[in-house]
Amino acid sequence: MNIADCRNFNDFRELAKKKLPAPIFHYIDGGADDEVTLRRNTSAFDDCDLIPNILASVGKPDLSTTIFGRKIDMPIFLSPTAMQRLYHPDGDKASARAAEKFGTFYSMSTMANNSIEEISNISSGPKLFQLYVHKDKSITDDLLDRCKRSGFDGMCLTVDTLVAGNREKDHRTGFTTPPKLTLSSLISFALRPSWVLKYITNKKFELSNVKKKTDKGTNIAKSVIDYINEQYDPKMNWKDAEYCVKRWNGPFALKGVMSVDDAKRAIDIGCTAIMISNHGGRQLDGSRSPFDQIKAISDAVGDKLEIILDGGVRRGTHVLKALAAGAKACSFGKMFLFSLSAGGQQGVEHLLKMMHDEINRNMILMGCKNLSELNNSKLIYRK
Ligand code: LAC
Repeated sequence: MNIADCRNFNDFRELAKKKLPAPIFHYIDGGADDEVTLRRNTSAFDDCDLIPNILASVGKPDLSTTIFGRKIDMPIFLSPTAMQRLYHPDGDKASARAAEKFGTFYSMSTMANNSIEEISNISSGPKLFQLYVHKDKSITDDLLDRCKRSGFDGMCLTVDTLVAGNREKDHRTGFTTPPKLTLSSLISFALRPSWVLKYITNKKFELSNVKKKTDKGTNIAKSVIDYINEQYDPKMNWKDAEYCVKRWNGPFALKGVMSVDDAKRAIDIGCTAIMISNHGGRQLDGSRSPFDQIKAISDAVGDKLEIILDGGVRRGTHVLKALAAGAKACSFGKMFLFSLSAGGQQGVEHLLKMMHDEINRNMILMGCKNLSELNNSKLIYRK
Protein backbone atom coordinates (compact mmCIF):
# COMPACT_ATOMS: atom_id res chain seq x y z
CA MET A 1 0.00 0.00 0.00
CA ASN A 2 1.19 3.54 -0.64
CA ILE A 3 -0.25 7.00 0.06
CA ALA A 4 -2.42 7.06 -3.06
CA ASP A 5 -4.21 3.94 -1.78
CA CYS A 6 -5.11 5.47 1.60
CA ARG A 7 -8.86 6.06 1.81
CA ASN A 8 -9.49 6.30 5.53
CA PHE A 9 -7.97 6.58 9.01
CA ASN A 10 -7.09 2.90 9.18
CA ASP A 11 -5.23 2.97 5.86
CA PHE A 12 -3.03 5.85 7.05
CA ARG A 13 -2.53 4.11 10.40
CA GLU A 14 -1.47 0.83 8.77
CA LEU A 15 0.99 2.56 6.45
CA ALA A 16 2.47 4.57 9.34
CA LYS A 17 2.83 1.38 11.36
CA LYS A 18 4.92 -0.14 8.57
CA LYS A 19 7.24 2.87 8.45
CA LEU A 20 7.74 3.82 12.11
CA PRO A 21 9.75 2.09 14.82
CA ALA A 22 7.26 0.60 17.31
CA PRO A 23 7.92 3.05 20.21
CA ILE A 24 7.15 6.01 17.94
CA PHE A 25 4.06 4.42 16.37
CA HIS A 26 2.67 3.60 19.81
CA TYR A 27 3.38 7.12 21.10
CA ILE A 28 0.96 8.43 18.46
CA ASP A 29 -1.50 5.56 18.68
CA GLY A 30 -1.85 5.22 22.42
CA GLY A 31 -4.06 6.80 25.05
CA ALA A 32 -4.11 6.88 28.84
CA ASP A 33 -4.87 3.93 31.17
CA ASP A 34 -7.43 1.60 29.54
CA GLU A 35 -7.98 3.91 26.55
CA VAL A 36 -11.73 4.11 27.27
CA THR A 37 -11.80 7.83 26.43
CA LEU A 38 -9.63 7.33 23.36
CA ARG A 39 -12.19 4.88 21.96
CA ARG A 40 -15.23 6.91 23.03
CA ASN A 41 -13.90 10.06 21.33
CA THR A 42 -14.69 8.44 17.98
CA SER A 43 -17.56 6.10 18.83
CA ALA A 44 -19.56 9.03 20.30
CA PHE A 45 -20.24 10.23 16.76
CA ASP A 46 -22.22 7.02 16.11
CA ASP A 47 -24.80 7.83 18.78
CA CYS A 48 -26.59 10.37 16.63
CA ASP A 49 -27.78 10.57 13.05
CA LEU A 50 -27.71 13.24 10.37
CA ILE A 51 -31.05 14.26 8.86
CA PRO A 52 -30.63 15.37 5.24
CA ASN A 53 -32.93 17.74 3.39
CA ILE A 54 -33.69 16.89 -0.22
CA LEU A 55 -33.91 18.84 -3.47
CA ALA A 56 -31.97 21.76 -2.06
CA SER A 57 -30.15 22.71 -5.27
CA VAL A 58 -26.82 22.85 -3.47
CA GLY A 59 -24.43 22.78 -6.42
CA LYS A 60 -21.04 23.64 -4.98
CA PRO A 61 -21.30 24.15 -1.20
CA ASP A 62 -19.32 26.90 0.52
CA LEU A 63 -17.08 25.16 3.07
CA SER A 64 -15.33 28.29 4.33
CA THR A 65 -15.47 29.59 7.88
CA THR A 66 -13.52 32.02 10.06
CA ILE A 67 -11.58 31.09 13.20
CA PHE A 68 -8.85 32.93 15.11
CA GLY A 69 -9.48 35.91 12.83
CA ARG A 70 -8.57 34.05 9.61
CA LYS A 71 -10.91 32.82 6.92
CA ILE A 72 -10.20 29.18 6.15
CA ASP A 73 -11.34 27.15 3.13
CA MET A 74 -12.77 24.24 5.08
CA PRO A 75 -13.84 23.66 8.70
CA ILE A 76 -10.94 21.39 9.67
CA PHE A 77 -7.33 21.97 10.65
CA LEU A 78 -4.25 20.22 12.01
CA SER A 79 -4.13 19.94 15.82
CA PRO A 80 -0.92 20.98 17.52
CA THR A 81 1.24 17.91 18.01
CA ALA A 82 4.73 17.60 19.45
CA MET A 83 7.99 16.44 17.86
CA GLN A 84 6.93 15.98 14.27
CA ARG A 85 10.48 15.20 13.08
CA LEU A 86 10.06 11.80 14.69
CA TYR A 87 7.47 11.04 12.03
CA HIS A 88 9.12 12.57 8.99
CA PRO A 89 12.44 14.42 8.51
CA ASP A 90 10.60 17.53 7.24
CA GLY A 91 8.62 17.68 10.50
CA ASP A 92 6.48 20.77 11.00
CA LYS A 93 7.59 22.19 7.65
CA ALA A 94 5.67 19.42 5.86
CA SER A 95 2.49 20.02 7.88
CA ALA A 96 2.67 23.81 7.61
CA ARG A 97 3.12 23.66 3.84
CA ALA A 98 0.31 21.13 3.37
CA ALA A 99 -2.11 23.15 5.52
CA GLU A 100 -1.28 26.38 3.67
CA LYS A 101 -1.93 24.68 0.35
CA PHE A 102 -5.40 23.67 1.54
CA GLY A 103 -6.14 27.09 3.01
CA THR A 104 -6.34 26.03 6.61
CA PHE A 105 -4.56 26.23 9.96
CA TYR A 106 -1.33 24.51 10.82
CA SER A 107 -0.68 24.42 14.57
CA MET A 108 2.71 24.39 16.28
CA SER A 109 3.40 22.76 19.62
CA THR A 110 5.72 24.28 22.24
CA MET A 111 7.53 20.92 21.89
CA ALA A 112 8.10 21.22 18.13
CA ASN A 113 11.36 20.27 16.39
CA ASN A 114 11.19 23.35 14.17
CA SER A 115 11.27 26.85 15.53
CA ILE A 116 8.56 29.50 15.45
CA GLU A 117 10.77 31.64 13.20
CA GLU A 118 11.64 28.79 10.83
CA ILE A 119 7.96 28.04 10.18
CA SER A 120 6.88 31.65 9.82
CA ASN A 121 9.62 32.04 7.18
CA ILE A 122 8.23 29.23 5.02
CA SER A 123 4.48 29.76 5.44
CA SER A 124 2.18 32.72 5.25
CA GLY A 125 -0.81 30.43 5.84
CA PRO A 126 -2.94 30.54 9.01
CA LYS A 127 -0.87 29.57 12.05
CA LEU A 128 -1.87 28.66 15.61
CA PHE A 129 0.60 28.18 18.45
CA GLN A 130 -0.01 25.76 21.34
CA LEU A 131 1.40 27.00 24.60
CA TYR A 132 2.46 24.87 27.54
CA VAL A 133 3.18 26.84 30.70
CA HIS A 134 6.56 25.73 32.06
CA LYS A 135 7.62 26.25 35.69
CA ASP A 136 10.19 28.70 34.29
CA LYS A 137 7.82 31.56 33.43
CA SER A 138 10.38 33.28 31.22
CA ILE A 139 9.73 30.48 28.70
CA THR A 140 6.05 31.50 28.43
CA ASP A 141 6.86 35.17 27.82
CA ASP A 142 9.53 34.27 25.29
CA LEU A 143 7.16 32.01 23.29
CA LEU A 144 4.28 34.51 23.31
CA ASP A 145 6.50 37.37 22.20
CA ARG A 146 8.25 35.38 19.46
CA CYS A 147 4.92 34.16 18.04
CA LYS A 148 3.64 37.73 17.95
CA ARG A 149 6.76 38.96 16.16
CA SER A 150 6.54 36.03 13.71
CA GLY A 151 2.95 36.71 12.72
CA PHE A 152 1.17 33.73 14.26
CA ASP A 153 -2.60 34.33 14.08
CA GLY A 154 -3.81 32.63 17.22
CA MET A 155 -2.69 31.15 20.50
CA CYS A 156 -4.08 28.18 22.38
CA LEU A 157 -3.14 27.37 25.94
CA THR A 158 -3.23 23.68 26.85
CA VAL A 159 -5.06 23.31 30.15
CA ASP A 160 -5.46 19.53 30.40
CA THR A 161 -1.82 18.52 30.81
CA LEU A 162 -0.64 19.83 34.18
CA VAL A 163 0.77 16.36 34.75
CA ALA A 164 1.26 13.66 32.15
CA GLY A 165 -1.42 11.02 31.57
CA ASN A 166 -0.53 7.38 32.16
CA ARG A 167 0.36 6.18 28.68
CA GLU A 168 1.27 2.61 29.49
CA LYS A 169 2.49 1.85 25.98
CA ASP A 170 5.20 4.52 26.34
CA HIS A 171 6.33 3.03 29.64
CA ARG A 172 6.51 -0.39 28.03
CA THR A 173 8.41 0.70 24.90
CA GLY A 174 10.75 3.06 26.78
CA PHE A 175 9.91 5.93 24.41
CA THR A 176 12.10 8.98 24.98
CA THR A 177 12.83 12.28 23.29
CA PRO A 178 15.32 12.30 21.62
CA PRO A 179 14.83 8.59 20.89
CA LYS A 180 17.32 6.47 22.83
CA LEU A 181 18.39 3.00 21.88
CA THR A 182 17.85 0.63 24.76
CA LEU A 183 18.07 -3.13 24.78
CA SER A 184 14.29 -3.43 24.57
CA SER A 185 13.84 -0.84 21.81
CA LEU A 186 16.82 -2.02 19.75
CA ILE A 187 14.86 -4.58 17.77
CA SER A 188 12.02 -2.17 16.92
CA PHE A 189 14.51 0.36 15.54
CA ALA A 190 16.51 -2.35 13.72
CA LEU A 191 13.30 -3.42 11.99
CA ARG A 192 12.86 0.06 10.47
CA PRO A 193 16.31 0.75 8.91
CA SER A 194 15.05 3.41 6.48
CA TRP A 195 13.57 5.43 9.37
CA VAL A 196 16.88 5.10 11.28
CA LEU A 197 18.90 6.17 8.24
CA LYS A 198 16.76 9.27 7.71
CA TYR A 199 16.85 10.09 11.40
CA ILE A 200 20.62 9.96 11.72
CA THR A 201 21.40 11.68 8.43
CA ASN A 202 19.09 14.64 9.04
CA LYS A 203 19.30 17.69 11.29
CA LYS A 204 19.90 16.87 14.95
CA PHE A 205 16.74 16.31 16.99
CA GLU A 206 15.95 19.24 19.27
CA LEU A 207 13.04 20.92 21.01
CA SER A 208 13.67 24.00 18.91
CA ASN A 209 11.43 26.47 20.76
CA VAL A 210 12.75 25.83 24.26
CA LYS A 211 16.32 24.59 23.70
CA LYS A 212 17.89 27.88 24.75
CA LYS A 213 16.13 27.63 28.10
CA THR A 214 16.43 23.90 28.84
CA ASP A 215 18.66 21.03 27.75
CA LYS A 216 16.02 18.45 28.62
CA GLY A 217 14.49 16.78 25.59
CA THR A 218 17.25 18.17 23.34
CA ASN A 219 20.63 17.08 24.73
CA ILE A 220 19.26 15.05 27.63
CA ALA A 221 16.96 12.18 26.57
CA LYS A 222 13.73 12.23 28.57
CA SER A 223 10.52 10.31 28.41
CA VAL A 224 7.74 12.71 27.41
CA ILE A 225 6.01 11.80 30.67
CA ASP A 226 9.08 12.88 32.69
CA TYR A 227 9.47 16.04 30.59
CA ILE A 228 5.89 17.10 31.28
CA ASN A 229 6.09 16.25 34.97
CA GLU A 230 9.40 18.05 35.49
CA GLN A 231 8.93 21.08 33.27
CA TYR A 232 5.25 22.04 33.24
CA ASP A 233 3.67 23.98 36.06
CA PRO A 234 1.14 21.73 37.85
CA LYS A 235 -0.16 24.78 39.75
CA MET A 236 -1.23 26.69 36.66
CA ASN A 237 -4.46 28.57 37.39
CA TRP A 238 -6.98 31.05 35.93
CA LYS A 239 -4.74 34.01 36.75
CA ASP A 240 -1.89 32.47 34.76
CA ALA A 241 -4.26 31.87 31.84
CA GLU A 242 -5.53 35.45 32.01
CA TYR A 243 -1.95 36.69 32.04
CA CYS A 244 -1.31 34.79 28.77
CA VAL A 245 -4.53 36.11 27.19
CA LYS A 246 -3.53 39.70 28.00
CA ARG A 247 0.09 39.35 26.92
CA TRP A 248 -0.98 37.75 23.63
CA ASN A 249 -3.64 40.38 22.98
CA GLY A 250 -5.22 38.57 20.01
CA PRO A 251 -7.34 35.50 19.19
CA PHE A 252 -6.88 33.10 22.11
CA ALA A 253 -8.29 29.66 22.98
CA LEU A 254 -8.11 27.43 26.01
CA LYS A 255 -7.46 23.90 24.71
CA GLY A 256 -8.90 21.18 26.90
CA VAL A 257 -12.14 22.79 28.12
CA MET A 258 -14.74 20.13 28.98
CA SER A 259 -17.25 21.81 31.33
CA VAL A 260 -19.87 24.49 30.74
CA ASP A 261 -18.62 26.45 33.78
CA ASP A 262 -15.06 26.51 32.49
CA ALA A 263 -16.28 27.62 29.07
CA LYS A 264 -18.09 30.55 30.73
CA ARG A 265 -14.99 31.42 32.70
CA ALA A 266 -12.93 31.37 29.51
CA ILE A 267 -15.14 34.20 28.24
CA ASP A 268 -14.62 36.13 31.49
CA ILE A 269 -10.83 36.11 31.07
CA GLY A 270 -11.05 37.33 27.47
CA CYS A 271 -10.76 34.13 25.39
CA THR A 272 -12.18 34.32 21.88
CA ALA A 273 -12.34 30.54 21.45
CA ILE A 274 -12.25 27.21 23.26
CA MET A 275 -11.07 23.86 22.05
CA ILE A 276 -13.26 21.15 23.54
CA SER A 277 -10.70 18.41 23.93
CA ASN A 278 -9.41 15.68 26.24
CA HIS A 279 -6.01 15.63 24.55
CA GLY A 280 -6.96 12.76 22.28
CA GLY A 281 -7.71 10.47 25.23
CA ARG A 282 -4.07 10.74 26.34
CA GLN A 283 -4.65 12.44 29.68
CA LEU A 284 -7.68 11.75 31.93
CA ASP A 285 -9.05 8.36 30.98
CA GLY A 286 -12.78 8.20 31.75
CA SER A 287 -13.17 11.83 30.73
CA ARG A 288 -16.25 12.57 28.62
CA SER A 289 -15.69 12.79 24.88
CA PRO A 290 -15.70 16.20 23.14
CA PHE A 291 -18.65 15.21 20.96
CA ASP A 292 -20.74 14.06 23.94
CA GLN A 293 -20.12 17.42 25.59
CA ILE A 294 -20.31 19.89 22.74
CA LYS A 295 -24.04 20.48 22.67
CA ALA A 296 -24.25 21.48 26.34
CA ILE A 297 -21.33 23.87 25.94
CA SER A 298 -22.60 25.27 22.68
CA ASP A 299 -26.11 25.87 24.08
CA ALA A 300 -24.55 27.84 26.94
CA VAL A 301 -21.84 29.90 25.20
CA GLY A 302 -21.94 29.18 21.46
CA ASP A 303 -22.89 32.74 20.58
CA LYS A 304 -20.05 34.24 22.63
CA LEU A 305 -16.95 32.40 21.46
CA GLU A 306 -15.70 30.10 18.73
CA ILE A 307 -16.00 26.43 19.59
CA ILE A 308 -13.49 24.01 18.13
CA LEU A 309 -14.02 20.27 18.56
CA ASP A 310 -10.72 18.42 18.94
CA GLY A 311 -10.70 14.65 19.30
CA GLY A 312 -11.93 11.48 17.67
CA VAL A 313 -12.55 12.94 14.20
CA ARG A 314 -11.96 10.36 11.48
CA ARG A 315 -14.54 11.18 8.80
CA GLY A 316 -16.16 14.10 7.00
CA THR A 317 -19.48 13.08 8.54
CA HIS A 318 -17.95 13.46 12.02
CA VAL A 319 -17.15 17.05 11.11
CA LEU A 320 -20.70 17.64 9.88
CA LYS A 321 -22.13 16.23 13.11
CA ALA A 322 -19.79 18.39 15.22
CA LEU A 323 -20.78 21.51 13.29
CA ALA A 324 -24.48 20.68 13.57
CA ALA A 325 -23.94 20.35 17.34
CA GLY A 326 -22.30 23.78 17.57
CA ALA A 327 -18.64 23.63 16.49
CA LYS A 328 -17.18 26.21 14.11
CA ALA A 329 -14.41 23.84 13.09
CA CYS A 330 -12.76 20.55 14.06
CA SER A 331 -9.12 19.65 14.50
CA PHE A 332 -7.41 16.26 14.53
CA GLY A 333 -4.02 14.99 15.63
CA LYS A 334 -3.61 11.23 15.36
CA MET A 335 -5.01 10.92 11.85
CA PHE A 336 -2.76 13.70 10.58
CA LEU A 337 0.36 12.29 12.28
CA PHE A 338 -0.25 8.94 10.62
CA SER A 339 -0.51 10.71 7.26
CA LEU A 340 2.71 12.64 7.97
CA SER A 341 4.50 9.42 8.97
CA ALA A 342 3.18 7.61 5.94
CA GLY A 343 4.13 10.22 3.33
CA GLY A 344 5.45 13.56 4.65
CA GLN A 345 3.90 16.67 3.08
CA GLN A 346 2.36 14.59 0.31
CA GLY A 347 0.74 12.33 2.91
CA VAL A 348 -0.80 15.27 4.80
CA GLU A 349 -2.03 16.77 1.52
CA HIS A 350 -3.63 13.47 0.59
CA LEU A 351 -5.43 13.39 3.94
CA LEU A 352 -6.61 17.00 3.67
CA LYS A 353 -7.88 16.38 0.15
CA MET A 354 -9.69 13.24 1.31
CA MET A 355 -11.33 15.10 4.20
CA HIS A 356 -12.20 18.05 1.96
CA ASP A 357 -13.87 15.74 -0.53
CA GLU A 358 -15.77 13.89 2.19
CA ILE A 359 -17.08 17.13 3.69
CA ASN A 360 -17.96 18.52 0.29
CA ARG A 361 -19.78 15.37 -0.85
CA ASN A 362 -21.69 15.02 2.42
CA MET A 363 -22.73 18.67 2.45
CA ILE A 364 -24.38 18.09 -0.94
CA LEU A 365 -26.01 14.90 0.34
CA MET A 366 -27.24 16.83 3.39
CA GLY A 367 -28.74 19.57 1.23
CA CYS A 368 -26.59 22.29 2.83
CA LYS A 369 -25.23 25.22 0.82
CA ASN A 370 -23.02 26.57 3.57
CA LEU A 371 -21.84 25.58 7.02
CA SER A 372 -24.34 27.76 8.90
CA GLU A 373 -27.10 25.52 7.54
CA LEU A 374 -25.68 22.73 9.66
CA ASN A 375 -27.59 23.27 12.89
CA ASN A 376 -29.35 21.30 15.61
CA SER A 377 -32.27 20.53 13.28
CA LYS A 378 -29.95 18.34 11.21
CA LEU A 379 -29.08 16.00 14.07
CA ILE A 380 -31.08 13.50 16.09
CA TYR A 381 -29.57 11.72 19.09
CA ARG A 382 -30.45 8.08 19.62
CA LYS A 383 -31.70 7.25 23.08
C1 LAC B 1 1.35 14.47 24.22
C2 LAC B 1 1.78 15.86 24.52
C3 LAC B 1 3.20 16.15 24.37
O1 LAC B 1 0.15 14.23 24.07
O2 LAC B 1 0.99 16.78 23.83
O3 LAC B 1 2.21 13.57 24.15
